[in-house]
Amino acid sequence: MKTVLIYTTIHGTTEKVAHYIAEHLADVTILKLGNSSDIPIGSFDRVILGGSIHMGSVQSSLKKFCTKHRRELLSKQVALFVCGMEEEPAKQEEELQLAFPEEISKHARAKAFVGGEFLFEKMNFIQRMMIKKITHTDVSRSEIKYDVLNGFISEIESN
Ligand SMILES: Cc1cc2nc3c(=O)[nH]c(=O)nc-3n(C[C@H](O)[C@H](O)[C@H](O)COP(=O)(O)O)c2cc1C
Repeated sequence: MKTVLIYTTIHGTTEKVAHYIAEHLADVTILKLGNSSDIPIGSFDRVILGGSIHMGSVQSSLKKFCTKHRRELLSKQVALFVCGMEEEPAKQEEELQLAFPEEISKHARAKAFVGGEFLFEKMNFIQRMMIKKITHTDVSRSEIKYDVLNGFISEIESN
């Protein structure tokens, strides 16, 4: 099954996750979504979409992509994931739910909140101050949930 994985990222974590997924599935093309939504997806059977949550929201380019390709996405196998550092499961679920249009979210066969990373060396001054205030540390850390990610990949494969 020909798969395209389209992602957005601010500090590179979603890219890392995208490559992990692609290494564990056959025949995956990875594409980073820039400002343009003009990525042709017609030749793919399956579309995996991923982005990261910053200040409660996923990148607007990913939402625009979903809106622009709505009809085509609804005709394909779709899987959705987000990276984020929210710890509360109910809020993780909410962030995942709000990241994609409801119709596409309902259509998706696999969805996951896969954790994330705080990479202080990649943050700008304001981001560093903000995250330091919330987490009481400025030490970078990775909390990518590989167990969830592996479950997400298995779910995709089982379809
Ligand atoms: C300024 C800032 C705000 C963030 N806000 C949220 C948030 O609202 N919810 C969340 O779950 N994670 C939040 N995060 C964590 C990011 O989702 C996490 O760093 C993720 O790994 C970023 O992925 P990326 O490098 O692909 O953009 C925030 C991170 C930063 C730096």
